[in-house]
Amino acid sequence: MKLDVLLGLQWGDEGKGKIVDVLTPEYEIIARFQGGPNAGHTLEFEGKKYILRSVPSGIFQGNKINIIGNGVVLDPALFKGEIESLEASGHDLRKRLLISKKAHLILPTHRLLDACYEAAKGDSKIGTTGKGIGPTYTDKISRNGLRIGDILYNFDEKYTQAKNKHLKILEQHGYDTGKLAEIEKEWFAGIDKLKTFTFIDSEHYINNAIKQDKKILAEGAQGTMLDIDFGSYPFVTSSNTISAGACTGLGIAPQQVGEVYGIFKAYCTRVGSGPFPTELFDETGDNLRKYGFEFGSVTGRPRRCGWIDLVALRYAIMVDGVTRLIMMKSDVLDTFDTIKACTAYEINGEKTTEFPFEIDDNNIKPVYVEMKGWQTDMTKMRSESEFPAEFNAYVSFLEKELEVPISIVSIGPDREQTIIRK
Ligand code: GDP
Ligand code: IMO
Ligand code: MG
Repeated sequence: MKLDVLLGLQWGDEGKGKIVDVLTPEYEIIARFQGGPNAGHTLEFEGKKYILRSVPSGIFQGNKINIIGNGVVLDPALFKGEIESLEASGHDLRKRLLISKKAHLILPTHRLLDACYEAAKGDSKIGTTGKGIGPTYTDKISRNGLRIGDILYNFDEKYTQAKNKHLKILEQHGYDTGKLAEIEKEWFAGIDKLKTFTFIDSEHYINNAIKQDKKILAEGAQGTMLDIDFGSYPFVTSSNTISAGACTGLGIAPQQVGEVYGIFKAYCTRVGSGPFPTELFDETGDNLRKYGFEFGSVTGRPRRCGWIDLVALRYAIMVDGVTRLIMMKSDVLDTFDTIKACTAYEINGEKTTEFPFEIDDNNIKPVYVEMKGWQTDMTKMRSESEFPAEFNAYVSFLEKELEVPISIVSIGPDREQTIIRK
């Protein structure tokens, strides 16, 4: 049995959480492979809404095993908050959530360093989520990190050593560390909570499960255009969000990967700084934000909105090896009379369909194809036979441009508002 991967193809917030939840009944194990509490994955069902940050989105459908893989970075304080709110709503995860000993810990000083580096960047700041993601992955790569497994051996000593290194850097920047003691208190309470969970050698666990023919779904966070290698660098996150990240983030070999589900919105959004060639600054952009309720689930920041970018999408499909596409938030376009799709970029008068190295919004002119909107409320539809002709034309156009079938269409935030295409 192969492991399937599900990931975002744009700049995050494509709707990964919702679809992982929808697909969970088909799987026995759901595993997050990268990112941390910079993620906010929203699920809605039975009139309730949940936002998950570090916990995989497979926890609500049956008693499936959920794994936080080695590629993830975990903040114990935020993890405790997330677990407690799930417990309060009747979801006890202790037996169903397993955590890799090799996942890295986000320390309180990583959070301070994140804020400190952003402040030092001034106008060129990344617009991070402020959760300490970059500094934690930096320590992982520079071999200074602390891992979940470290909690079990000489932890206080290791913690103090790491903290002192960070304090030196913060001091050099003249950064105020006055809040540290307060953050540390919450953090250590988080460590106590974390210790009530089972830590595993997740690479062994997952490979044994593959041998036993168990069905596994790997859940990505962020999106391909935020990938550390292939995204719009330096305005990216600090992990490999692409499908290869599932191999390094879970310890599985490339030939174990089966389907790669690529998720995209019927338009496009981005939160934080960085290039976004199809961004709209007009009323259409405002309407996408309004109808799509495009505000960050973690930070509440308004998301930047624009038309779908097929240059970036084709690139994402290429580096991820996507085998099936899932189109989200189709209903957000329900009232538009015209819909545009960017099929190429014009750079210095030359047209290109390849995503370029240099992505300077001032220098890139998106080339658009216009289509007639369907102007029909799709939110209550339950089968593809009900789809309006203009919507089918949009889907066919995208499939032709992207050369991958669109297997699922989402027409609202609820679990039920999901249509599998035959
Ligand atoms: P994720 O980070 O990829 O899991 O996505 P987020 O949860 O951050 O953002 C997606 C948002 O869109 C959430 O508020 C979802 O409830 C919502 N959503 C998901 N699918 C649909 C859809 O098809 N239509 C609409 N209108 N909202 C959706
Ligand atoms: P989900 O999983 C959207 C963005 C931040 C910032 C950049 C770097 O919900 O799709 P970081 O804190 O990771 O160092 O910030 O990446 N970003 C996201 N944008 N969705 C996310 O996650 C994101 N996680 C990080 O806004 O621009
Ligand atoms: Mg999100």
